[in-house]
Amino acid sequence: MQIQSHTPGIAVFAQSVGVFDSGVGGLSVLKAMLNYLPAERFQFVADERYLPYGDKPQHEITDRVLTLSNWLRNQECKAMVMACNTATAAGANQARAAHANWPIVGIEPAVKPASMLTKTGVVGILATTNTVASERFKGLVERFDPLAKVIAHPCPGLVELIEQSPMPEPAIEALLKPVLAELLQKNADVIVLGCTHYPFVAHLISKLAGPDVTVIETGLPVAKQLKTRLESEGLLNMGEAHLPMIERVSFFTTGQPEAFKTKLVNLLGTDWLQVKVQQLDI
Ligand code: DGL
Repeated sequence: MQIQSHTPGIAVFAQSVGVFDSGVGGLSVLKAMLNYLPAERFQFVADERYLPYGDKPQHEITDRVLTLSNWLRNQECKAMVMACNTATAAGANQARAAHANWPIVGIEPAVKPASMLTKTGVVGILATTNTVASERFKGLVERFDPLAKVIAHPCPGLVELIEQSPMPEPAIEALLKPVLAELLQKNADVIVLGCTHYPFVAHLISKLAGPDVTVIETGLPVAKQLKTRLESEGLLNMGEAHLPMIERVSFFTTGQPEAFKTKLVNLLGTDWLQVKVQQLDI
């Protein structure tokens, strides 16, 4: 069912889950949610006008989190997924305080599963500069400190390269090579992708890290967490899963719709060629 949005000229789905990220990174989480929750619909906002979040002052990201959450709530989304580690670190607490009684699922680097998986006792985390510097991340690392030594490595510039279409793989490999060499030299045998953009270059990270290193991403665990939250709130869609994926998402960008669509098709595949991306001015 389509309803008229609070924003003139924009059509959205009723009873859907709102999702946002600074850009295409959130698509790695959306893909997992579409597969894991086949009866759910989503509204996805790429906040590309403000990309990258990873190097901006914390208060600017918190402001964006509040603006985007307010908008998604006004679209009558039944829940929200912050498909961005940086935004979760900067604004999950504030978003939850502003929207009591509205399920909000955030995303954090998978330090716990990595700490339980490592055999060498050393875990590498790749994330944005802001995530690594955040109090939330420091708290997370402290909690699992007794289990494993955690080495966090910011990757400035990587998000901007992943946002290019097509992705410049040689430049991405050149950026990642010294990072991974350092983590391997320090004996890390598990590497966590602590930014939702990075799963799109997981194949390059695995290639550079070699077969003895496990690379962990968080799309599926977030999808599972969303299901648990929706179930516990009585909000899980029990209807039939019969719609093609392309009909289950409304896409919005605060940047350029055509450019976002090109990236979306490059990253998720040609099944998405007919998708409509709407411009959002918030
Ligand atoms: N995808 C976001 C994350 O998970 C960050 C990207 C950015 O720096 O804008 O942290």
